[in-house]
Amino acid sequence: MIDLRSDTVTRPSAAMMEAMISAQTGDDVYGEDPTVNKLETLAAELTAKEAGLFVSSGTQGNLLALLSHCERGDEYIAGQDAHTYQFEGGGGAVLGGIQPQPLAFNDRGELDLNEIATAIKPNDYHFARTRLVCLENTQSGKVLSLDYIQRFSAFVAERGLRTHLDGARVFNASVRLEVPVDEITRHFDTVSICLSKGLAAPVGSLLVGDKKTIARARRWRKILGGGMRQAGILAAAGIYALTHHIERLAEDHDHADELATALKRLDSLGVIDDPDTNMVMLDLKTTDFSNLNTFMAAHGITLSSPRLVLHRDISHDDVQTVIDTFRAFDQGRDS
Ligand SMILES: Cc1ncc(COP(=O)(O)O)c(C=O)c1O
Repeated sequence: MIDLRSDTVTRPSAAMMEAMISAQTGDDVYGEDPTVNKLETLAAELTAKEAGLFVSSGTQGNLLALLSHCERGDEYIAGQDAHTYQFEGGGGAVLGGIQPQPLAFNDRGELDLNEIATAIKPNDYHFARTRLVCLENTQSGKVLSLDYIQRFSAFVAERGLRTHLDGARVFNASVRLEVPVDEITRHFDTVSICLSKGLAAPVGSLLVGDKKTIARARRWRKILGGGMRQAGILAAAGIYALTHHIERLAEDHDHADELATALKRLDSLGVIDDPDTNMVMLDLKTTDFSNLNTFMAAHGITLSSPRLVLHRDISHDDVQTVIDTFRAFDQGRDS
């Protein structure tokens, strides 16, 4: 099967498994797992932050950021379509009494600075206390420009608020911009990074930030039952991913470009925008998605939405197969 649903579906390679099997371990709740400690230090160094924390998932990383920056009765501003707001079960509200204030992303994945200014609540006891502003990079595969990030962080800092980046795919952004990732991450107080998306580790994310905030996050992680013991087995996969799988993200971006270029030549389908990174958003035109999905599944290609995601387990040959199958669908004009 060629699975284009998400970059979360990658399987660990033999070399990554070997690194996991030979990992040194200890009890991480006592801070004694050398491999977890190494991963956390590596992540902090790469992102130019004081400290890192290994967590179970991107959702946990974002939740720990909300809980560590905000208190009960506080508010965070985030994109209406941000993963943190839409797809994480409202964890900040459920567990922290933290109110979300969603704002629309523009078509570049940005929050408008004037809209942020309007959304910040007055310092008055009728209102929740606005404390934090969150961005996402990449946002639906789009890369935020460095210019916007700089203006955003200066604007938010001037208003005395803190910032969190959902950087589930921040390495895709840095590879596309051809800059070290810390050129992006240094503009945020905290950043969550997924190891189990394009970086192709089986499990795990990281939260990075200043020592005080990460110490708070470590406490919340324990409260949430996220203190793991001999987690070095998993952290070893993360170290392998950060050492071997960053530059190769460019291949996924090239594959996305190739796929988008071919799709643009079809009649019954197209693409919404040229892809920035590893996601191609299909323009369905008159095509019914369930017809397309059935046709692709019958040819060994798994979709779950009009979003096609390229990743390490999709080879160049697979991309050709996907293109041929879309062409066959188009020639049948199954729409
Ligand atoms: C942008 C973004 N942030 C956070 C997450 C959450 O990651 P996880 O599935 O590891 O909880 C995802 C998952 O797809 C995501 O796409």
